[in-house]
Amino acid sequence: MTAPSLPHGAPVNVREFELAARLVLDPVHADYVRGGAQDEVTVRANESAFAGLCLVPRVLRGAGEPVLRTTLLGHEASMPVLIAPTAFHRLVHPDAERATARAAAAEGVIMIAAMLSTVAIEDVAAEARKAATDPCLWFQLYPQPDLGFTRAIVQRAEAAGCRALVVTADSPALGRAERNDRNDFHDLPPGLRCENLRELRGGEPGSVRQVVLSPEISWRHVEWLRETTDLPILVKGVLHPADAALAADLGVDGIVVSNHGGRQLDTTPPTIAQLPRIAEAVAGRVPLLLDGGVRRGTDVIKALALGAAAVGIGRPIMWGLAVGGEDGVGAVLSMLRRELANALALCGCAAPSEVPRDLVMNGTAKE
Ligand code: FNR
Repeated sequence: MTAPSLPHGAPVNVREFELAARLVLDPVHADYVRGGAQDEVTVRANESAFAGLCLVPRVLRGAGEPVLRTTLLGHEASMPVLIAPTAFHRLVHPDAERATARAAAAEGVIMIAAMLSTVAIEDVAAEARKAATDPCLWFQLYPQPDLGFTRAIVQRAEAAGCRALVVTADSPALGRAERNDRNDFHDLPPGLRCENLRELRGGEPGSVRQVVLSPEISWRHVEWLRETTDLPILVKGVLHPADAALAADLGVDGIVVSNHGGRQLDTTPPTIAQLPRIAEAVAGRVPLLLDGGVRRGTDVIKALALGAAAVGIGRPIMWGLAVGGEDGVGAVLSMLRRELANALALCGCAAPSEVPRDLVMNGTAKE
């Protein structure tokens, strides 16, 4: 990887990938990736809430070398870290989602491919298969009021080999990122298209303006999707325990505790703070995933302890992609893998499934 150098050389942690990405990205696009809604309170809180939790390790347990392998919804993954869906990878690197898919497959990591991808889902899947014989891709969906289109895109994802559907539920409208307003960034640059949207009626084919974030979308759409596809369905963007309970009652296959990385409604609670309440409401009926502010192996352990089966990372993947394409994404993933293995060992845990609840304490690890 011929990465741009920070003053001390290559990034040594995930956060430093953002600094390195800023050296190569158009500042408008770097702001698009970093940005959140309004005052970005939630963006900051997602990260700082992890720092505000202490890990209380156990000692002399003879746990041995940690094994990170994890099964999620019956799918094998090399670690409990997924690639959260992020739109428009071509904004940050010409190899775009193709590079991300290859890196994910090579690392044995589940990638949630975004509906608002700049590469068609069939091509994303084909790239993943170049890097691994049995890659695991899930597909993220913004259900559209046009149910004909919604059915067709789900069928395309299924035919391409995607193994689960992640329905984004926190976007009945678009959150306002003031960075984008300031930069007058409201559309993709010429030549970039949302390749999955070409069949959507209204507007120029593939234009991001075609997508409808509709306040009409409801649990009925989740039920409709259940009848429309055999794919397991996860609901992404749940923060209220009552919604988590509703999702479990509906029989969804997974819940992603997420505030969209602070990009939708500002001042929502940090996801890691909300996770215990959601775990209580769901009481083990449905596997929980969490995303938002995960930057360290220790963050992953905290989420596992508080009830998540795995975590997703959004921005770090975009930073890795910007810095080094496929190698950059691979570097971010292997950095987190090393940190997670190290943190598990230091906590006396042999595997992600063996992280006990009492490893985490509310406290003042914050400087
Ligand atoms: C996102 N996210 C997102 N989520 C989704 O369901 N569909 C999407 O198209 C996008 N697009 C998107 C673009 C960019 C640039 C970012 C940073 C995020 C949200 C994403 O899936 C995830 O919830 C957050 O990114 C997690 O927080 P971190 O890891 O970025 O702090």
